[in-house]
Amino acid sequence: MRMKHKPWAEPYLAAHPDVVLTPSEITSDRGKTFLHLTPLYLEIGTGKGDFIVGMAQKYPDAYFLGIEKSSTALAITAKKVVEAKLTNVMLLNDDALLILDLFPEQTIQAIFLNFSDPWPKKKHSKRRLTNEKVLGTYYRLLKKLGKIYLKAANPGVFEFSYENFSNMAYDILEYTHDYDGLDAFDYPTEYETKFRAQHIAINRLIVQKGEHTHETNPTSTEAV
Ligand SMILES: C[S@@+](CC[C@H](N)C(=O)[O-])C[C@H]1O[C@@H](n2cnc3c(N)ncnc32)[C@H](O)[C@@H]1O
Repeated sequence: MRMKHKPWAEPYLAAHPDVVLTPSEITSDRGKTFLHLTPLYLEIGTGKGDFIVGMAQKYPDAYFLGIEKSSTALAITAKKVVEAKLTNVMLLNDDALLILDLFPEQTIQAIFLNFSDPWPKKKHSKRRLTNEKVLGTYYRLLKKLGKIYLKAANPGVFEFSYENFSNMAYDILEYTHDYDGLDAFDYPTEYETKFRAQHIAINRLIVQKGEHTHETNPTSTEAV
């Protein structure tokens, strides 16, 4: 979803390297050090940060990386991280689909996909964060038995995601069309709060990286 660009966003991100990792730093010593902290959780499409800030406060011994392509949304998140004095959050301003291949394999405990852009037209399905190719990438990044937590309001995208996960080497742990938001290992996002206020049902899927070999995972090229 497009956000109105705020001119202060990029300067704010540049002025806070303590909470911001630049794309070119992913393979640097600083990037590698953060990406090997454990447990490390990744949120893709962080938006304005309610979820990542809430989770980082709830779980101060865990580390959280948020990737968001909108600099304005990410700067709003960065402000919240700085104001809350969090030291377990790192933020990255880029399109996740362009940079995830640079990440080290088997370092991420879980990935959160919260109300990812639906891209409803079939011709745009490659841009969805649950297309088959990117599910192969997540598989490579996740630790053994790592999980993916997905929340969605759009039923079409939810079913598309469920089918893609089901066709790959992921085990489905939870599949619900009416998530009550009560899981302790969760936090409401900005979109979720708006959807709940409008009585829109929240779909939730939790999948786990299966213990299969990569031969059963058609898009993964890495040994697991
Ligand atoms: C519908 S909003 C949801 C924001 C937040 N997760 C929430 O639930 O309130 C989707 C967000 O994902 C971001 N996004 C979409 N595709 C992305 C991608 N490929 N890489 C990084 N961010 C992405 C958008 O910029 C937008 O901020």
